[in-house]
Amino acid sequence: MCGIVGYTARKDVENRILNTLELLEYRGYDSAGLAIYNEKFQQVVVRKCAGRVSDLREKCQEVPVAGTCGIGHTRWATHGGVCDENAHPHRCGRVTLVHNGIIENYEEIRDHFGLGGELISETDTEVIAALIDKFYDGRPRATISRAIKYIKGTFALVIMFDDKPGVIYAVRNVSPIVAAYTGDGTMLASDVAALGGQADKYMVVPEYHIVELHQNAILVYDEKDQKVKPEFLEIDWDTTRDGKGRYPFYMEKEIMEQPEVIKNALCSRIVDGHISLETDGIPDPLLTDCSRIVITACGTARHVGLASKALMQNILRMHVDVEYASEFMYSNPVIDEKTLVIVISQSGETIDTLEALKYARRQGARSIGVINVKGSSIARESDYVMYTAAGPEIAVASTKAYTTQLAVMYALIGRMAVLRGNFDESQEKSFIEGLLGISAGVQNVLDRRTDIHRIARDLLEAKDAFMIGRGLDYTILLEGALKLKEISYIHTEAYASGELKHGTIALITENTPVIAVVTQHDIKEKELSNIREVQSRGAQLTLFVSEDMELSDQEKYSHVFRLPAMDDRLSIFPVSAALQLLAYYVSMDRGLDVDKPRNLAKVVTVE
Ligand code: G6P
Repeated sequence: MCGIVGYTARKDVENRILNTLELLEYRGYDSAGLAIYNEKFQQVVVRKCAGRVSDLREKCQEVPVAGTCGIGHTRWATHGGVCDENAHPHRCGRVTLVHNGIIENYEEIRDHFGLGGELISETDTEVIAALIDKFYDGRPRATISRAIKYIKGTFALVIMFDDKPGVIYAVRNVSPIVAAYTGDGTMLASDVAALGGQADKYMVVPEYHIVELHQNAILVYDEKDQKVKPEFLEIDWDTTRDGKGRYPFYMEKEIMEQPEVIKNALCSRIVDGHISLETDGIPDPLLTDCSRIVITACGTARHVGLASKALMQNILRMHVDVEYASEFMYSNPVIDEKTLVIVISQSGETIDTLEALKYARRQGARSIGVINVKGSSIARESDYVMYTAAGPEIAVASTKAYTTQLAVMYALIGRMAVLRGNFDESQEKSFIEGLLGISAGVQNVLDRRTDIHRIARDLLEAKDAFMIGRGLDYTILLEGALKLKEISYIHTEAYASGELKHGTIALITENTPVIAVVTQHDIKEKELSNIREVQSRGAQLTLFVSEDMELSDQEKYSHVFRLPAMDDRLSIFPVSAALQLLAYYVSMDRGLDVDKPRNLAKVVTVE
């Protein structure tokens, strides 16, 4: 969480910092700030405020700051409320810094070193600025090394010293920082997406190494203060931002991109009519020698795990557990060298997922990361990586990342089924045929989005909504409910339909919105009878149902949306597109900021 950026260049950097902060805003958008060394007055000037980067931009327009070296920050509040004082950068004496992460022992440090009197904000970060200033003896690297020995927690710190104009220092533990050469200088940022077409190579700052950013050099020093050669990686996905195109929000653009990115994720793994994980470098024994699977992830990525579990148990007949990454290591999970741990993460930076992965590896498990962002921390920590190649996902609510993660999991499951003897040749063939039809199924729903927009209008006034389904349908409803909650602020719960009558049905009264999904043919009748139970309590019912399923009492529904008939195992894809669109239209028609819902951040780098 929190986006950080630093530039040292030949031209003024104010505008570039603001532009990059906009690219990083999905990491947090409570407040924003920048600090620039002004050569004329030989001092660091700070501008910061609660609110969005656009508010900071306005502030900077009133009184621009000239200077060729500066740092910036967009905040997701952890310690201290959302106000101007708590916004970064923080300045103490000769030190100005921005921070991403959490300093767990900041109160202890503050009291031990008697720093309280110097602090203006309530943040953990300002304590570190004060500590570095207290230790500062004109030697930035030695001072930073000394200070970080006292810090417990995660941090990416980007620091300027008043007497070192034109140089930016950075150090990190867990929280990421990347650095790159631009055409006219150097830059660093929290992630590669922020490089925004300014660089074609980047380096990931190694943990506890200190980076010095000069206009013409990126210097890296290890923990013993020895200079080390930075390892540069190619940027092989498009970090140039083509904006929202003709769409009002990134979320809609990303929903609409799904047929294409799903196709890419699958086609690259289907070679000569067979599923192949060769380009992922996944050895067959990894998939044949494991006796159980544990999937761990957060949020939407965890919902991919739940759908995968249903499919894995069904096809592979294997024992699969899906764990919240944040609970993983505290739940004493049963893991050994026969366990295959799969971690799923769009950003590859979610700290709980990263820590869960590290824990599992310490217990001897082998691991696969299903990741979108190349070179991210989780990708580097996993034994093997399957990239989803969805491209940058900017809207906080995940859409194309979810469906491409699912597509990759389907390819993995298909390959495992072949290797473990669950699929014979004809079963593999028909599975692949199904996979190749997914994009068309999703496109079919997207083409009828105005029908979904109509359904959304009936939800605009709702305070609560329920989603019901069984089997694989239930797993997608968990994701659909999360989408509706996070961007429309309607309290929404997904329920396994059969479970409803054990309590929650008490909440279903006249006109309570209920959204039901029916795509699984073997449990259709049971699902329809659960639907009748809520209908008879007066629910306002919307049904998403496969087009090949007959309905005897169609008139009893407020809306019926027909989904393309597909293999039951694959209908999750068109359903997810439909539920994404439903949440999207409700949020948009409620006049909300669809891409930046309140209190959220896209990349969660604090536990
Ligand atoms: C945040 C995002 C979600 C995402 C979750 C896990 O909560 O808002 O969209 O599902 O983090 O993120 P990851 O990057 O690990 O997939």
